[in-house]
Amino acid sequence: MQIVIMNDAAEVAAYGADIFSTQLQRKAESVLGLATGSTPVALYQELIRRNREGVISFKDATTFNLDEYLGLNGSHPQSYRFFMDEQLFNHIDIDKDNTHVPPGDAKNPMTACQDYEARMAAAGGVDLQLLGIGRNGHIGFNEPSSGLTSRTRVKTLTRETIEDNARFFEEGEYQPHLSITMGIGTILDARKVVLLATGENKADAVRDMVEGPLTASCPASALQLHKDAVVVIDLAAASKLK
Ligand code: F6R
Repeated sequence: MQIVIMNDAAEVAAYGADIFSTQLQRKAESVLGLATGSTPVALYQELIRRNREGVISFKDATTFNLDEYLGLNGSHPQSYRFFMDEQLFNHIDIDKDNTHVPPGDAKNPMTACQDYEARMAAAGGVDLQLLGIGRNGHIGFNEPSSGLTSRTRVKTLTRETIEDNARFFEEGEYQPHLSITMGIGTILDARKVVLLATGENKADAVRDMVEGPLTASCPASALQLHKDAVVVIDLAAASKLK
């Protein structure tokens, strides 16, 4: 695991954008694993800017998102499909048919999970996977106690994650408690992984991921097993490292 400590969130986003740019410049038909949440927004803005300036192109790229709320379809403003369209896909030269987000409205979620894995395999596997980290150490929606070899599946969200994400929902609005998420085994199959974390509220999770034991209690600690995992953090998120 390579740890890169930057001064602030803006530098973290720029460093992450460099990794994505290099990947796309080396291999135009890259398969990119993407994430939602607050952390990648600045990175996506930077990728949009570089795409507009002609520095990078997504024309031949394919994407697979980590996760989606089960029970929301892609037109729901809180769905991760909607988020990705708004924050990235609508602003770059990607072919939308090549963007994949787990289907939150799947009639048969179990089959949909197997289908998602099959699509990733058919695309040749993920070249570069972007991750954030939850305060409880989750990656994707792999909450603590997730199997370290787990594959794409339906997962219950913990109370902590539901509370953390409540900020995105209106008061009284239906907030799903279930998700479809790539498994930890799925994530570890990516050829390269880059995890971004910023802010003091991520410092405990970052410490457990980097210095803690390999344990399902901190799903991100599984990245210790990956041969090309880069963790890019700001000073605040790094503040509890030894
Ligand atoms: C999002 C995802 C989550 C987030 C994590 C951090 O697709 O899979 O694991 O990366 O919850 O979220 P933020 O960036 O909002 O702190």
